[in-house]
Amino acid sequence: MATWLEQNPALATLSHRLKEARDKGTLCLQAGDLGCASAPSNIALLKYWGKSESVAQVPVNSSLSLTLDSFRATTQVEVIGRFSPTSEALQAVERPEFVFRLNDHERPLPEKMSRFLQQILLGFADDIALRITSYNNFPTACGVASSAAGYAALVGSIADLLNLEKHFDSNELTLWLAEWARLGSGSATRSAVPVSGGVSGQFVAWELMSDQMTTKSYQVPAASGLAQLQHCVLVLDDSEKAIGSSEGHALAKTSPFQPLRLAQFPLRLEQMKRALQSDDVSIVASLTECDAYEMHTVMATGKTPLWYMSVDTVEALSRFVRRRNDLRLKMFWTLDAGANPHLIFEHSAHDGLADFFEELASLARFKNGYVLSGTNTGCGLVLGRNAGAPTRGGSLSEPLKLSLTEAVSHFRKGCAIC
Ligand code: PMV
Repeated sequence: MATWLEQNPALATLSHRLKEARDKGTLCLQAGDLGCASAPSNIALLKYWGKSESVAQVPVNSSLSLTLDSFRATTQVEVIGRFSPTSEALQAVERPEFVFRLNDHERPLPEKMSRFLQQILLGFADDIALRITSYNNFPTACGVASSAAGYAALVGSIADLLNLEKHFDSNELTLWLAEWARLGSGSATRSAVPVSGGVSGQFVAWELMSDQMTTKSYQVPAASGLAQLQHCVLVLDDSEKAIGSSEGHALAKTSPFQPLRLAQFPLRLEQMKRALQSDDVSIVASLTECDAYEMHTVMATGKTPLWYMSVDTVEALSRFVRRRNDLRLKMFWTLDAGANPHLIFEHSAHDGLADFFEELASLARFKNGYVLSGTNTGCGLVLGRNAGAPTRGGSLSEPLKLSLTEAVSHFRKGCAIC
């Protein structure tokens, strides 16, 4: 397979410009230079499952997500040295070194991330050593993609370090962020859309273009009612999942349902965009639930069947849906490659949601369940000092961790902070 930059001429042109800037002396990094960014995670309402076999990190279908403002990764990168075989003053090493600190613990930088950083810096800053300090304000195995927030924040912090706003115009910067985030982790590209024109990137589409080789991420406008949608995660099992998404993506093509899914997906994306603009929560709900069910069907019918839902997931969701249908509540669910449902709702559904959590709290099987509830602040990717610090409490907003009983009173009160 060709290298990432060979496959991506637009990104290669931008990398080349940075190389020229380095040669001219306008891009000059030295020890102590810092870059910071904070990025939200996201949950796909229309999901991508399956990747191209010929182009790196290109999905076989488009997707559309809701930005999870308060589930964030904050990352700071600091230049800690420059290594040049020709410099007498500094010790020569073969490749840059990375020191990594995640959630207040030093650990080896994962190999995938190390290769990724070397690719980003290739040609203009591949001789620098970096200290990378990152903080995720939500538990890693709770059903919220930490890789989406993590890679978006990492790419954002490098953009800040390189002072890209000086070297690129805003379209080029947007492209650079989205493309590098995509190459880090597919769903990260939906977290790397900067807030523009005062509009939060609450809904973001990641569209597969007709050449089936390139993609584009962009904000999708929504009517005012849907822009107020709220979200929480019902955590039923916070152990690490056994099968990672890379393995799952590779199996997608072996399901007999995948061709059917891919054939009707473009229409579903259009229907979703229309429903978001026309404030039609019931259509958004049915498209979202249908899409999640369909992805899990593809997962469960491949050559190696993958089953991410637990018995508790099914039990909780059937109770949730029954209550929603009976009372016509404006709430719906979705599920990624894990057992923990995401619940999405309008303010008017708070009482119904509180009743639902009360019902679960009365059942012994859910005694270890809890709820992570975020605030809807309209805060997307933030670069620079406003990103906050990569430590506990340093983040812009934190999700609340509530027992089921606490969730009952939280939503019963009307949840003023949501
Ligand atoms: O971003 P990845 O490569 O880990 O894949 C994630 C895929 C899903 O979360 C299941 C769906 C999606 O579109 O986010």
